[in-house]
Amino acid sequence: MNDPTGVGPSGKKRILTGIRPTGPLHLGHYAGALENWVRLQSEYECYFLIADYQVSDFADDISRVRDAVWEVALDWLGVGLDPEGSSFVIESLVPEHAELTTWLAWFLPVGMLERNPTLKAEMEAIENPDDGKTKGRSVPVAFYTYPVMQVANILMPRAHLVPVGEDQLPHIELTRETARRFNREFKPIFPEPEALVGRVPRLVGTDGNAKMSKSRGNTIDLKDSAETVAKKVRSMYGGPPRGMNEPGKVDDNPIFLYLDAFDPDEALVAELKERYEKTGVGNKELKERLTLVLNELMDPFRERRAKYEANMSLVREALEHGTKRGRAIARETMELVRDALDLNYLGRY
Ligand code: TRP
Repeated sequence: MNDPTGVGPSGKKRILTGIRPTGPLHLGHYAGALENWVRLQSEYECYFLIADYQVSDFADDISRVRDAVWEVALDWLGVGLDPEGSSFVIESLVPEHAELTTWLAWFLPVGMLERNPTLKAEMEAIENPDDGKTKGRSVPVAFYTYPVMQVANILMPRAHLVPVGEDQLPHIELTRETARRFNREFKPIFPEPEALVGRVPRLVGTDGNAKMSKSRGNTIDLKDSAETVAKKVRSMYGGPPRGMNEPGKVDDNPIFLYLDAFDPDEALVAELKERYEKTGVGNKELKERLTLVLNELMDPFRERRAKYEANMSLVREALEHGTKRGRAIARETMELVRDALDLNYLGRY
């Protein structure tokens, strides 16, 4: 291990990315990040983290977090992440994360966290007196420590690449800054990781609103049945009301955003758009197409997921093996960190 920032014994560069276990994953997660994970998993040595320390606003509903660990693992297996080639890591079972967080907290100015827009938005939401869900709550100290832990997550396997959704970019910037400081002040042990955002950085919700998210109840979940998908698409917002065969503006109709995102037949979508703007296309026709496209994408997810759901011990094994590998590289990194910080006191005499 001459150059700790370089590739490991596998000859591959490393990916670390993760998700907070809050419930089932949806198409926004898929198009924004997961699709990249699947695509890159054989090219990189991958660590996929279930960030169960980062319970955030779910801390008052711990059992949901625990259940969601399994949900996330099933969704990952469903979309085709390979638990043999990659490592599914449960964050809290690698306590080195907490250890590294404690050290790194010294190298991150509070101001840098306070400027982090993702964090700012989350804290403002908690303190918003008009939000019934968070009424009477105050910002926990963990809002200052969790971004540091996310930095620790990424630095732990000395990752080169972090494929994430757009909202995570400020955290990656923080990680790069921390790596630069650590490398400069102590020893150069951390690569400066690059972020990679998915093909569709922000998927609108089925209600046509800004973003697909569980709290808004506008998601299509990866585990939804074909019937549920058909139903959700049928009730999707399809732009301002139009008469039958009345032309519309493509930009006003979010169904086209979904077709752009998921329909592999680009020529067909282009033709639909042209027709929609000239002579009009009923939303029914668009929705039928979208249902077909989504179910074709999701059928293999469902099949794989069902196989694992019928045999949960395979899921446990995936988590066990992955976490073991995550812990092994964490121990290696912590050796480097202890050496860099000159923490091996007892070896002195
Ligand atoms: N913050 C991420 C989310 O909300 C989860 C996460 C934790 C993560 N640690 C990470 C993402 C490290 C990328 C890298 O989903």
